[in-house]
Amino acid sequence: MAPAVMAKLMVIALFITAAAAATGYTNHTVGGAAGWFFNATTNRSATSYPAWAADQTFNLGDYIVFNTNTNQTVIQTYNKTTYQSCNTDDSSDNDTFQYDGGSSKFGEALTISIPLTIEGPNYYFSDADDGVQCERGLAFHIDVKHGLGLPPSLNQPPPPPYIEPPSPDTAQSPPVSTVTTAEPPKGNGFTTRANIRLGFCGFLGFLLFFH
Ligand SMILES: *[C@@H]1O[C@H](CO)[C@@H](O)[C@H](O)[C@H]1NC(C)=O
Ligand SMILES: *[C@@H]1O[C@H](CO)[C@@H](O)[C@H](O)[C@H]1NC(C)=O
Ligand SMILES: *[C@@H]1O[C@H](CO)[C@@H](O)[C@H](O)[C@H]1NC(C)=O
Ligand SMILES: *[C@@H]1O[C@H](CO)[C@@H](O)[C@H](O)[C@H]1NC(C)=O
Ligand SMILES: *[C@@H]1O[C@H](CO)[C@@H](O)[C@H](O)[C@H]1NC(C)=O
Ligand SMILES: *[C@@H]1O[C@H](CO)[C@@H](O)[C@H](O)[C@H]1NC(C)=O
Repeated sequence: MAPAVMAKLMVIALFITAAAAATGYTNHTVGGAAGWFFNATTNRSATSYPAWAADQTFNLGDYIVFNTNTNQTVIQTYNKTTYQSCNTDDSSDNDTFQYDGGSSKFGEALTISIPLTIEGPNYYFSDADDGVQCERGLAFHIDVKHGLGLPPSLNQPPPPPYIEPPSPDTAQSPPVSTVTTAEPPKGNGFTTRANIRLGFCGFLGFLLFFH
């Protein structure tokens, strides 16, 4: 009997550990120690960013952190065409964002933290040197999973843009498309944790039943 009780306790301990591990969000440092750099001498990115990205799991609410300087840019886009073009000339403001320090000087150190707020493909590249940096390795994409969903701190959509109150004859006009990007996700951390707890109680009941 004792070994069986032991085994049950171990299973319970493992279950608790797994539930605890699932409550965290991760900060991913892009390129690891190499950072986000283009080496002008070798005319190559400092490391392989696709290889770096392939090694990690990205979830909603995680951050990706670019340790870089103003010789590179950080463009985030949800549009594969923009990513593949290595430039933002034809991109739209609603799916492509440039993160930089607003500095016009070269070589100033910069750390850029970007929260992952949209599930699915997210694309990143530097459009500096007329796209040469991107073409020569400063680009990668990730697939953002749901994980726990967004934490409350990232779950607040920005207020919708001001819209003229409709007059009776314009009531049929189509909705403003910009609101779609601000939609909060369906689940959040609380419901996920509640589900884990429910599952845990059910699991205990199961163990007691078969005791
Ligand atoms: C991750 O980065 C965010 C944004 O910079 C910061 O608020 C948070 O404390 C960091 N978390 C950890 C565990 O370092
Ligand atoms: C660029 O690469 C060369 C050759 O590998 C190396 O000597 C140099 O330190 C690198 N420059 C930077 C800024 O990392
Ligand atoms: C780097 O490579 C690009 C082609 O991708 C080329 O146009 C450019 O002249 C090269 N730059 C240097 C410094 O070798
Ligand atoms: C993606 O961006 C390209 C320009 O880079 C644009 O022509 C295209 O319409 C965009 N696609 C979507 C779905 O917005
Ligand atoms: C961005 O706007 C275009 C129209 O300008 C629309 O077709 C597209 O769905 C929008 N994308 C997102 C992510 O809202
Ligand atoms: C940044 O770019 C400028 C101009 O191309 C170059 O002179 C400088 O050495 C670069 N600085 C770093 C830290 O890579």
